Amino acid sequence: MVTTILGIESSCDDTSASVIRDGYMLSNVIANQEVHKAYGGVVPELASRAHQQNIIPVVDRALRLAGVDKSEIDGLAFTRGPGLLGSLLVGTSFAKGFALYNNIPLIEVNHLQAHVLAHFIKEKDTDNQQPDFPFLCLLVSGGHTQIILVKNYFDMEIIGQTIDDAAGEAFDKCAKTMGLPYPGGPWVDKYAKEGNPQAYKFTKPRIANLDYSYSGFKTAFLYFIRDNIKEHPDFIKENMNDLCASIQFTIIDILIDKLKLAIKQTDVNQVAIAGGVSANSGLRNAITQLGQELNLKVFIPEFKFTTDNAAMIAIAGYYKFLEKEFVGQEVIPLARMPF
Ligand code: KG4
Ligand code: ZN
Repeated sequence: MVTTILGIESSCDDTSASVIRDGYMLSNVIANQEVHKAYGGVVPELASRAHQQNIIPVVDRALRLAGVDKSEIDGLAFTRGPGLLGSLLVGTSFAKGFALYNNIPLIEVNHLQAHVLAHFIKEKDTDNQQPDFPFLCLLVSGGHTQIILVKNYFDMEIIGQTIDDAAGEAFDKCAKTMGLPYPGGPWVDKYAKEGNPQAYKFTKPRIANLDYSYSGFKTAFLYFIRDNIKEHPDFIKENMNDLCASIQFTIIDILIDKLKLAIKQTDVNQVAIAGGVSANSGLRNAITQLGQELNLKVFIPEFKFTTDNAAMIAIAGYYKFLEKEFVGQEVIPLARMPF
């Protein structure tokens, strides 16, 4: 018997649908929302309206690309949270309607767990290397920065996290200070490739245990730019590459320091990265180097699985389906959703 899962993701500003059959991805359609670019960040009201417009065509396309009829879907997995409530409501309502009409079980998925489980998506004609349990996952996105001890598919423990801004936010806010478009992370990555990471030094936060903090760095960078612009109005333009390389170096250095400590404390020798910031070339290099240095097995997601996508929701749904972990029609989305 084959198991076919339709996954729906709508937690922020990407509307996505994916079909996964027996762990293999058949389709993964993502509609990005360009509308937010003009505002320098995601506008929740506009995001939920765009989800409303996108959800049916996106699901339709995902089914068609997979070559699957809706009568072949065994379970409907959707992001219950965490995320923007108005955005989550669209995906949740669609999922409930689809499951009810087609008489199939409804499966709730935690968006953050799904980012981690993206490492278990299989694809045809690839080697499909997957981590064994337990492993550590550094989850770095626009809203979260966490070190997670993954003991099993749904047995995950957050052993460290940011006490203020997330790493993605640090990228985006520093980029905004320099006048780069939103989201700034990919722009910083691009310019950093041509710059000197040691050009400007920023102090690292002193935070206890495995926790992170990025708000001090963000503010220090803002003052640093403001002071330099006073003397040289073209300071940013003339030094964009070095500034980006130095920001990126600092953010990654902070991430890796705590990850090293987590590896030491847990004695786990497999490490994965996940979330939007795991697309960053500097972080991908740093984690590869760390693997060589400490003799670790390192798992780096394919680019298409770093930012928000429904394939990660569908794979999480697949493993829940095998355990018959379903929810009823009374389910409501959660802006904050603990593991
Ligand atoms: O996981 P994600 O798509 O959405 C959230 O759940 O937040 O992550 C988005 C974040 C943004 O902050 C974006 O700037 C960052 O990921 N990001 C990057 C890169 N690509 C995306 N940051 C640094 N370098 C990149 N190449
Ligand atoms: Zn995400």
